[in-house]
Amino acid sequence: MSDDLLKKVISHAKEYGYIFPSSEIYDGLSATYDYGQNGVELKNNIKKYWWSSMVNMHEDIVGIDAAIFMHPKTWKASGHVDAFNDPLIDNKDSKKRYRADVLIEDHIAKIEAKITKEVAKGLKRFGDDFNKEEFLKTNPNVLRNQAKIDEINDKMRDAFNSEDLGNIKALIEELGIACPVSGSKNWTDVRQFNLMFSTEMGSVAEGSNTIYLRPETAQGIFVNYLNVQKTGRKKIPFGIAQIGKAFRNEIIARQFIFRMREFEQMEMQFFIKPGTQKEWFEKWKETRINWHKALNLGEDNYRFHDHLKLAHYADAATDIEFNFPMGFKELEGVHSRTDFDLKAHEEHSGKKLQYFDPQENKSYVPYVIETSIGLDRMFLAIMSSSLKEEALEDGSTRTVLKLPAALAPTKVAVFPLTKKDGLPEKAREIINELKFDFNCLYEEKDAIGKRYRRQDAAGTPFCITVDHDSLNDNTVTIRDRDTMQQERVLINDLPKIIGEKVSLASLLKKLESREAAIV
Ligand code: GAP
Repeated sequence: MSDDLLKKVISHAKEYGYIFPSSEIYDGLSATYDYGQNGVELKNNIKKYWWSSMVNMHEDIVGIDAAIFMHPKTWKASGHVDAFNDPLIDNKDSKKRYRADVLIEDHIAKIEAKITKEVAKGLKRFGDDFNKEEFLKTNPNVLRNQAKIDEINDKMRDAFNSEDLGNIKALIEELGIACPVSGSKNWTDVRQFNLMFSTEMGSVAEGSNTIYLRPETAQGIFVNYLNVQKTGRKKIPFGIAQIGKAFRNEIIARQFIFRMREFEQMEMQFFIKPGTQKEWFEKWKETRINWHKALNLGEDNYRFHDHLKLAHYADAATDIEFNFPMGFKELEGVHSRTDFDLKAHEEHSGKKLQYFDPQENKSYVPYVIETSIGLDRMFLAIMSSSLKEEALEDGSTRTVLKLPAALAPTKVAVFPLTKKDGLPEKAREIINELKFDFNCLYEEKDAIGKRYRRQDAAGTPFCITVDHDSLNDNTVTIRDRDTMQQERVLINDLPKIIGEKVSLASLLKKLESREAAIV
């Protein structure tokens, strides 16, 4: 994985209508992107996969769609006004600003890379006899590097827990971390910087109230929890899911759509009885990693990373990290948020947010387990792990976007072999049948081979070619994007053949059987 791959993903995403720089004709707006004609389809399909699996497949979860603007007191109650800060540090020579914890984590990643290299050497040396687990426990170089990592993590955790920004700076200096731009170690002190965007509500600035663009969708769920519980007659445990935009004034928005100032979240708050949070936390960790792995993007591309520095609202938290082109980074968070948010909203609103538990015969403020995934990060995870350059038997190479078929923007491209003899009409006839179930595309320009390659690169799972025989025997050639195998099939069988591979229902059934295997 490398910067090169990220560059390839960025240019591929633009060339094939997935992602464009925002307001490009004005030279773009930093770290802001627009989803193109294929991008919006992929994004919508990811949302459908998440929504169907979380809401439709869980009887105890329902969805809402809350407003982006919320009463300003919401953010005071949630702690975002006072504590939603990033610890920032400037390099005095390059004038570049960094998140202090990210500088330290990048340093740790370099040490981790040394361990990975050592493991690769061991594997090369011992071949089939290589026992990775044993090697990690005994190899002196690995142990030395792991000890360094542990020591840095301990110091970082202590400094953050005691909110000692001086010690964070001292750690950066002790580790000899240099600015990636200037190469110098000439750092300012570490300062806290609030990440919320604010604006005014009302037409006259003097008479207006400052309001914030929501930095997370979660609070829209918390303030509606009793509305949903009462109107939906929900019993604890139950969950509320939501997909929507969130905004953060990230200082170092970078790495394409990985860190943006305007992005989308898919969040679910699961309301539980106090004291049961540990088991529900484990359950949701398992459920969410399983959701990811059902997509077949590579089992080794995921790992959990437990938080050392807990957010102000959590008593346990883990990240599901994905192996992005820049290395393993956070894709989703699973947080045990205690009763922090609901209690804080009770206090600031003066309204009771308690639940009467008929089994316990008492009222309490529920605890909450949250699962929170960035839609744009999920998009990047899928694009970057699907983009492949393949060497073919004839010595040529092809670029293929092996998207999970159920998420692909276009499911089927239909080509008439030539532009005459009634073949275009037959091709359109086929599309007219398929279009109710599948997103189809008609293409008649260029040689068939070229059309196949274009659809491979665009990520289309199936291409169908209509030729002169099709007019007589009602058969067509169907070509599979991944295997490049071509098969002659009856037109009437197309919905079944295509449906089995590309339908969301097939993916959801696979997910369900994976879940059943765990239980
Ligand atoms: N409600 C909890 C919450 O917002 P978070 O870890 O700050 O937790 C959740 O964010 C997810 O949102 C992250 O795992 C990430 O996928 C996504 N995310 C956060 N900041 C982002 C940004 N600036 N750009 C894109 N995605 C972001």
